[in-house]
Amino acid sequence: MKKTSLVLVSLLTVNYLQADNIEIKQEGMKYIKMLGSELKQNLQAKMKEDPSGENALGFCIGAADNITTEVNKKLPPYASVRRTAIKYRSQSNKPDAKDIEVMNTYIEKLKNKTFSPKSIVMTQDGNTYRIYKPLVAKGVCLKCHGENISDKLKLIITKAYPNDLAINFKEGDFRGVIVAEIKKD
Ligand code: HEC
Repeated sequence: MKKTSLVLVSLLTVNYLQADNIEIKQEGMKYIKMLGSELKQNLQAKMKEDPSGENALGFCIGAADNITTEVNKKLPPYASVRRTAIKYRSQSNKPDAKDIEVMNTYIEKLKNKTFSPKSIVMTQDGNTYRIYKPLVAKGVCLKCHGENISDKLKLIITKAYPNDLAINFKEGDFRGVIVAEIKKD
């Protein structure tokens, strides 16, 4: 009897911890989707308006930081969300050491063909959690991040980002991540 209740207690503890982590992961995913869908909707609308990508590019240069700030204003004070990449374009999106470590695991998975766009990575450092969602370069992304960027767009990109690293991607390459950070005491 005693043994049974002990097992029960430990089972409950494990379940509780897992549930807690799943909750944080889901909360992070919610914030990632908020930023991701906001940027995607805007990008899609601008690309439709002008398929050359010039309007969309102007929009990304001018508004991506603002959109990120606006989405963050809607989050609770203990949470934030942003994008980053190893080969990044904007200095505002520069990765830190942990970002690079996680992104390298995605690149490794792509090499080993064990990658899935759904593979979410969650890290914990004390009471701070990070939830990472990978982004893969699709056809539409290559207009501004690919190997054959039009001269016109190239000129605008180089002017706005003299140290741009976010070019020469191919379809299916790992492009970067959206990352949510949650601090829970
Ligand atoms: C019209 C041009 C354009 C298109 C199309 C485009 N991007 Fe970008 N992208 C930019 C610009 C400009 C920036 C830098 C400003 C910003 O958004 O923060 C950027 C930044 C990013 C960043 C943040 C990290 C960094 O490099 O600064 C990611 C991640 C990203 N793009 C992924 C994508 C993906 C994935 C697609 C396709 C679904 C895509 N982009 C399509 C222009 C574009």
